[in-house]
Amino acid sequence: MEKRQELYRGKAKSVYTTDNPDYLVLHFRNDTSAFDGERIEQLARKGMVNNKFNHFIMNKLEAAGIPTQIEKLLGDDEVLVKKLDMIPVECVIRNYAAGSLVRRLGVEEGKKLEPQTFELFLKNDALHDPMVNDSLCAAFGWATEAQLARMKELTYQVNQVLSKLFDDAGMLLVDFKLEFGLFKGEIVLGDEFSPDGCRIWDKDTKKKLDKDRFRQGLGGVVEAYEEVAARLGLDLG
Ligand code: C5P
Repeated sequence: MEKRQELYRGKAKSVYTTDNPDYLVLHFRNDTSAFDGERIEQLARKGMVNNKFNHFIMNKLEAAGIPTQIEKLLGDDEVLVKKLDMIPVECVIRNYAAGSLVRRLGVEEGKKLEPQTFELFLKNDALHDPMVNDSLCAAFGWATEAQLARMKELTYQVNQVLSKLFDDAGMLLVDFKLEFGLFKGEIVLGDEFSPDGCRIWDKDTKKKLDKDRFRQGLGGVVEAYEEVAARLGLDLG
């Protein structure tokens, strides 16, 4: 498949059209952003690490029966994906309290959430991704009740598969964000799953191995992502 022109430039990825209208190329850049794009830095190797990490995780999810947009790894920082009609809503599951939940509710970071929580956020940087709910999504036409029910079901399935994957490798999947889209009428997992969009802690030391290292200025960001990959048995080449 032939890569054509840039369709969209996001904060960390660029999207290109191809000669087939059903497929796109995602290019993972080294750009790393925080605080709704207010801070952006280049981190060497991050594009390659996230591209390969995302491909590895999405393949695990496909194997577990979860439909994803992934088609084929094209190179170090590019992947071929299905062209989805994206739903502008982010699905977040939390297994442990961290991040905005701690700020919003004043609860203790690291508290185990039983049952785990599910939240919806509108994808809108200018409004700082406000929290929304099913009825707001339906009223404004962002997603139907049926689409949201399927997105929620798939997000819980992803949590089951990945919590075990990380746990087996000595890590906690603290929380994560997923985005979905429609492909020929079916809800399909889109965007990416990488340490940019989830929280992963070492099970024993609680060392942060995700983008919080960047947000909190802890350093060793890409090194931490590489450590997670290595622990999962992913060879980054
Ligand atoms: O910031 P908050 O605690 O709500 O984030 C929950 C999870 O969703 C974290 O893993 C974070 O990395 C991810 N997230 C994201 N993109 C956003 C907001 C949150 O990947 N725009």
